[in-house]
Amino acid sequence: MASPLQGRSVLLGVTGGIAAYKSATLARLLRERGADVHVVMTEGATRFIGPDTFAALTGNPVHTGLFEQTESVLHVRLAREAHVAVVAPATANVIAKLALGLADDLLSSALLEYRGPLVVAPAMHSGMHAAPATQTNLETLRARGVSLVGPVEGPLAAGDTGMGRMSEPEEIVVAIEAAVGAGDLAGRHVLVTAGPTHEPIDAVRFVGNRSSGRMGYAIASEAAARGAAVTLVSGPTHLPDPPGARVVRVETAAEMRAAVGLVAEDADAVVMAAAVADFRPADPSTAKLKKDAGPPEVRLEPVADILRELGERRGHRVLVGFAAETSDVEAAGRAKLEGKNLDLLVANEVGRPGTGFDAETNRAAILSRAGDDQPMRDWTKRELAAAIVDRLAKLISR
Ligand code: CTP
Repeated sequence: MASPLQGRSVLLGVTGGIAAYKSATLARLLRERGADVHVVMTEGATRFIGPDTFAALTGNPVHTGLFEQTESVLHVRLAREAHVAVVAPATANVIAKLALGLADDLLSSALLEYRGPLVVAPAMHSGMHAAPATQTNLETLRARGVSLVGPVEGPLAAGDTGMGRMSEPEEIVVAIEAAVGAGDLAGRHVLVTAGPTHEPIDAVRFVGNRSSGRMGYAIASEAAARGAAVTLVSGPTHLPDPPGARVVRVETAAEMRAAVGLVAEDADAVVMAAAVADFRPADPSTAKLKKDAGPPEVRLEPVADILRELGERRGHRVLVGFAAETSDVEAAGRAKLEGKNLDLLVANEVGRPGTGFDAETNRAAILSRAGDDQPMRDWTKRELAAAIVDRLAKLISR
């Protein structure tokens, strides 16, 4: 069975103790289970093991300080993108900071911002572990729902033996998998479309749109991370395949319609995040049109509305549509929700700088057939993807 870590983003905090070298094994084990691992090291940790080791093992950049970054809110991004956070090894110091809510470096800032399952693997000298302050801090974390793994008895630094040794990486992985859970979409099949379509004018030119595909890819990876079997039918994009999803690449709306038609019957939910063409050139030339022939007349014809067709013969499937609007966003969205017979419609406001197509954030409302709408607000694509998949999971299990 696939690990619940498949496709999940793990924030791995490494703090300054000799056990830091064992976290390299932990990073490797997490990677082997399909997790996307983002390491943040404290200053102290870098004295025990080099960031390059983690960069090589995870394939991601390793972050070490709060101020050396070009990105001003890196701690916020790291926190929001993580499905699970782990601190291994966790020194008495970082445990105290977590208990108190201190945020004086990148790791403690990210952890203060973070909301989600947190696994902490303490490692310290037995005296520090037994100290009343540390015991109180560990109790505070436990009461807050933090999953503590270890420490265990064994050899410690400086030739001593006692309670304070970090648990083995394999045990920490088990705790992380337990903290993440099996996923509420296990056993479900979700079909997601993403990206633009390209409708040929001639052999080299096409009519397209500015969709990057990022929204649909974020939904596909979120659904896969929550245990669903995911098929992603993608128009032309520059994005890598989301982990855990089966990707079918297409160019035109007609190809997308055919690919969706093959898979939709078997799907529990279809999310049409693709920006599918509404019109296409009626007689595309198979040769390249020459400039000398003067400006061509490109006659357009309508393209079948894939989502509308799905809405007409929907069966048990949950249907989610998108609407990109520049004005009267919610009203126009509601009309599409009803007109296309959908369960949910994500009404996106486009046309303003920084939102919608090709942007990192979305301004959107989630409109629901059942009437429990989520009002218009700004979301990161990952937050919006999580909110959509939350709604979809509830609808599927009705
Ligand atoms: N859609 C589709 N097939 C098409 C066009 C759109 O399945 N040929 C889907 C999109 O994937 C999206 C939804 O329909 O989920 C809304 O598309 P949009 O183009 O915004 O709405 P339209 O109903 O085409 O209306 P208009 O473009 O006039 O706003």
